Amino acid sequence: MGNTKRHTLTAALPYTNGPIHIGHLAGVYVPADIYARYLRNKKEDVVFICGSDEHGVAISMKARKEGISPQEVIDRYHAMIDQSFQEFGISFDHYSRTSAQIHHQTASEFFTTLHKNNDFIEEFTEQLYDSEAQQFLADRFVTGTCPKCQYEEAYGDQCEQCGSSLNATELINPTSTLSGAVPTLKETKHWFLPLDRYQDFLKEWILEGHASDWKPNVYGQVKSWLDDGLKPRAVTRDLDWGIPVPVKGAEGKVLYVWFDAPIGYISATKEWARLKGVDWEPYWKDENTELIHFIGKDNIVFHCIIFPAILKAEGNYILPKNVPANEFLNLEGNKLSTSKNWAVWLHEYLNDFPGQQDALRYALTANAPENKDNDFTWKDFQARNNNELVAIYGNFINRVLVLTQKYYDGKVPTPNAFTDADLSVLAALKKAPKTIGDSLDRFRFREASQLMMNLARTGNKYLAEEEPWKLIKTAPERVQTIIYVAVQVAAGLSVLSEPFLPFSSKKLKNMVALPEACDWKQVGLKNELIPSQTQLGKSALLFSKIEDDTIQIQLDKLEATKLKNNEEALQVTPVKETVSFEDFTKLDLRVGTILSAEKVAKTKKLLALKVNIGSETRTIVSGIAEDYTPEEVVGKTVSVLVNLAPRTLRGVESQGIILMTENAEGKLVFVTPSEANSQPGFTIR
Ligand code: 2FM
Ligand code: ZN
Repeated sequence: MGNTKRHTLTAALPYTNGPIHIGHLAGVYVPADIYARYLRNKKEDVVFICGSDEHGVAISMKARKEGISPQEVIDRYHAMIDQSFQEFGISFDHYSRTSAQIHHQTASEFFTTLHKNNDFIEEFTEQLYDSEAQQFLADRFVTGTCPKCQYEEAYGDQCEQCGSSLNATELINPTSTLSGAVPTLKETKHWFLPLDRYQDFLKEWILEGHASDWKPNVYGQVKSWLDDGLKPRAVTRDLDWGIPVPVKGAEGKVLYVWFDAPIGYISATKEWARLKGVDWEPYWKDENTELIHFIGKDNIVFHCIIFPAILKAEGNYILPKNVPANEFLNLEGNKLSTSKNWAVWLHEYLNDFPGQQDALRYALTANAPENKDNDFTWKDFQARNNNELVAIYGNFINRVLVLTQKYYDGKVPTPNAFTDADLSVLAALKKAPKTIGDSLDRFRFREASQLMMNLARTGNKYLAEEEPWKLIKTAPERVQTIIYVAVQVAAGLSVLSEPFLPFSSKKLKNMVALPEACDWKQVGLKNELIPSQTQLGKSALLFSKIEDDTIQIQLDKLEATKLKNNEEALQVTPVKETVSFEDFTKLDLRVGTILSAEKVAKTKKLLALKVNIGSETRTIVSGIAEDYTPEEVVGKTVSVLVNLAPRTLRGVESQGIILMTENAEGKLVFVTPSEANSQPGFTIR
């Protein structure tokens, strides 16, 4: 490839325990694909890698739940995910899977190399053991009370209430999710990666080296991990599903899924290179290669701390140049959830909206959760399609093609003298590859998509103002110039929209008879993309309007999901044990008003509230920060349990509990004393 730049792009390997939804697409695959297409469009040397992540507890749990083998689970979803990515135009150069032999071999070799170099610590530790299921309980196989915030349904690896990362043995009152048994402690040997040894290197590389070019959300998370001080982390597990630990004395143990999965990027590159007959090594070992990991925010620590430490320990590999992680996408105001079926599934979208891949790609890009969590709504999707793709881009292209056909039998006319308006449009076209490219280079996909749409807007406005349909009788020579200019813009758009709208771009390229050689760079250099007298191709519809009925079907589907979830929630919460009236009267419940609120530092879910309960003001820590901003809760009238013994949550003493329930969407809502005159301090009985 001569002196072109080499890029290795990876997109997070999806777990094969469910299909792909719009959250995955917006967070990872659409931006990654735009970037890959952009670089290819610039004729750079790119390998774009992905594959299925087929190990880990998530897969074992799914298999158990459905009473089938893990192999059956991964085969089903691997095929499904692979196919839906292809249909959606995600242009991986290779989509592999971590059950592949080449991956088992590559991951084992990594482990063996690090083991030989004494890069691991071997330790006997006591771990939770389920004697009924005869299995050690790591990660999600155990739940219990979080030692940090007292949340009762924390997992063995993480508390979803306060966001702390945990060890299963830290849980209070642990229960096995396999049998419901109370686990006991049993000794077992594991291999730990001493992350503390990489603390200084990571600090220098990221905190000092990438303060200005990495996204603030990524940089911030890394900094917080490093500020807390890195600790050794186990990279093996007592499980029967995964890659066997390739050293003596490790029988029955497998590699931790987060040890093997990122190595999957390398295995997949090897597999791709073998098929293509090229050398894989420069893509992972040449200092001039730019390695970029596209991921969601929950994967930051693995890609910015753990995997780099593994690569560094191995010694021969390059490190990522950037890790442009996105935040999360919500759906109609609520968190996406595979288990609650609160999602727009890619395979269902492809079925319900055939041929309309670009509409979803565009809506997800224009509204991507780049710097903060964002919401997908069907109404917004409809508006993006109808008001932008159809009314601006599609309308412009349609006018250009129809008028060229009507006035010149589809042949590009020869221009006459250019006016200022013509020159300004041509200048905007010539500048566009650079401005759009600058945004893409900085991973600002939303901005880039809007700059692209602005070019279509410019073309559309130009035709509306010049009104060639009015001039055709009186000034036909002027119309020649206008149509010529408009054709150039249409041709430029066919190139510059390709990363965002690959399906429409392909059609448009045929329609404007774009020469093979015309790429991103040419659009910025050439004065003429389509010469006069070129015969244009047949015009086809690029986008079609999405009607209200179509959107309503989708909204109804979500409504049905909501109802079903509610019914299930009612069924699964059994009534607790009977309590005596005396016990009930021991609880002192009062009306309160929230005077102020602030987030508890380093937690996702906790707000510290000052609550007026009539006789005094209490500090109460409440796990509502994901559903409310501090501003939203100030002034609310609430129900408070005021005689609960104080508890310290994340360093803040909480002197009571605010009563909450859930609404139909699963959002926490206050149990509010609704009679107009209740005052702080009134008792609730
Ligand atoms: O979070 C996930 O879905 C993981 N399966 C991502 C893995 S990314 C990589 F490291 F393999
Ligand atoms: Zn917690």
